[in-house]
Amino acid sequence: METFRLLPTANCLGRVTEEDLELSGYKVSAGSVLICHTGIACRDERNFRRANEFRPERWLNEEKSQTASNATFLVAPFGVGRRICPGKRFIEQVLPVILEYTIKNFDMQVVKPMELQFEFLLSPKGPTSCYF
Ligand code: HEM
Repeated sequence: METFRLLPTANCLGRVTEEDLELSGYKVSAGSVLICHTGIACRDERNFRRANEFRPERWLNEEKSQTASNATFLVAPFGVGRRICPGKRFIEQVLPVILEYTIKNFDMQVVKPMELQFEFLLSPKGPTSCYF
C-alpha cells in the first residue's frame, strides 16, 4: 500500500463526464476530460502526515486511524469504479509471491537508482542498472 502510495504506475486516472456536474464549486460540462491526479494527492500533507516519507506503518494499528479516512480512494493504483483494472486481483496475488521469491533467493544490488518520468504512466527514464 505504501509503495503504491508513493510510486503508483498509474498516478492519475482519466474520466469523461457523462453529464454536467459541479465539483468543489467548479462547473464541469458533460463531455469534459477529467484527470484525477491521485499521485499528487498522495504526496499532499493535508491527506497524509509526513507524506513524502516511506512509512508502511501508517497503514497499521493505531496509526491507521490517523491516516486520512479517504486514503483508500486516494491510493488507487488500479483505479476505482466501473473501469477498475480487471487484472487487480491477479496482480495482488502474484506480486507478493514474485517479490518474496526474488528477495529470498537473490542478493540484488542497485548500481544506479532508477529515475522516473511521467508519461501519463510513471515509467523508468532510460535503462535501469542493477545486478543479482
Ligand atoms: C501492476 C500491474 C497493473 C496496474 C498497476 C494496473 C493499473 C491499471 C489502471 C490504473 C487502470 C485504469 C483503471 C481506471 O481508470 O479506473 C487499468 C485498466 C485496465 N487494466 Fe490494469 N493494471 C495492472 C495489471 C493488469 C493486468 C495483469 C491486466 C490483464 C490481465 C490488466 C488489464 C487492464 C484492462 C483491460 C484495463 C481497462 C479496464 C477498462 O477500461 O474497463 N491490468 N489498469
